[in-house]
Amino acid sequence: MLLTVEGLSIAFRLEGRISVPVRGVSFEIPENGRVALVGESGCGKSLTALALGGLVDRAKITGKIIGSPRIAYVFQNPMQSLNPVMRVGAQIEEGLARSRAEAAGRYMSDTEEICSLLAAVGLPKGTDRKYSCEMSGGQQQRVMIAMALAQSPDLLIADEPTTALDVTTQKEVLDLIARIADERGMAVLLITHNLGLVARYSRDVNVMYAGEIVEKGTVPEILRSPRHPYTQGLLAAVPRLDAPKDAPLADIPGTVPPPTDWPRGCAFHPRCPKARPECSADSFYSLLSEFGSPAVRCIAAI
Ligand SMILES: Nc1ncnc2c1ncn2[C@@H]1O[C@H](COP(=O)(O)OP(=O)(O)OP(=O)(O)O)[C@@H](O)[C@H]1O
Ligand code: SF4
Ligand SMILES: [Mg+2]
Repeated sequence: MLLTVEGLSIAFRLEGRISVPVRGVSFEIPENGRVALVGESGCGKSLTALALGGLVDRAKITGKIIGSPRIAYVFQNPMQSLNPVMRVGAQIEEGLARSRAEAAGRYMSDTEEICSLLAAVGLPKGTDRKYSCEMSGGQQQRVMIAMALAQSPDLLIADEPTTALDVTTQKEVLDLIARIADERGMAVLLITHNLGLVARYSRDVNVMYAGEIVEKGTVPEILRSPRHPYTQGLLAAVPRLDAPKDAPLADIPGTVPPPTDWPRGCAFHPRCPKARPECSADSFYSLLSEFGSPAVRCIAAI
């Protein structure tokens, strides 16, 4: 296994209150794995991903992260991640510098390597001399991927990498990540709220709600027969081209509460169409983790 996460919790102290946005999260990323972390905004996906790289400050972190793959990130908004006053090539060079210590056998000059990375992500010659403001959103995201690749990662964490892009560019960028991952034997952790992307680009899925993984399985298991009402709600909310024109779009009523106010028991109970009185009891919910299925945290699935 490339990386095993066991019981990861992340807690912050906020104005005298304790906030635990990530609670007891466990999952695995195999060598060359294609794993997805899915859930609505505020469920703790990005924090979980940042913790894998040791990038969460001022928090109490418990649990185990077993394995030490080299990790690189591609984030949602390349505009915010790229330096507007630095040429693209120089920014990639910084990534190369980071992996220099391990690059004893490198034979290319930095310029050659930067050009070959830019070519690998489909950008034309001369891109290294450009500034990010001269590029489209899709081109900027390709630069971000080249910067990530410069670090020779074993694991690429793609956190909503295409949310800011139009649908066609979205597909191009994700196809590119998938192709490069295959070529380099690199694992990918895809973070998204879009189950359509998960179906296409992942093999294993972890569904997160209110800081917990509530269901996990392979893509066919989760997409064909979801067992948790939250996963069922997420799937029902994916727009379908074959739906009748006047059919209303399904959604999950309500929103994810802030981590300072996670509901007691099963945090999904205020929004769950199958909720029963016992779902809101902490004692019942903790029993679920002992006696329930390890793959789904719901009384209805026992
Ligand atoms: N440094 C921090 N200190 C305190 N709370 C934080 C911190 N970072 C994130 N949070 C809180 O943790 C919760 C989960 O945040 P996270 O960014 O992991 O969500 P997410 O699932 O990635 O959402 P999105 O889809 O919007 O990116 C949010 O409510 C957020 O406000
Ligand atoms: S445990 Fe209860 S509230 Fe939670 S998802 Fe299952 S049925 Fe719904
Ligand atoms: Mg996020």
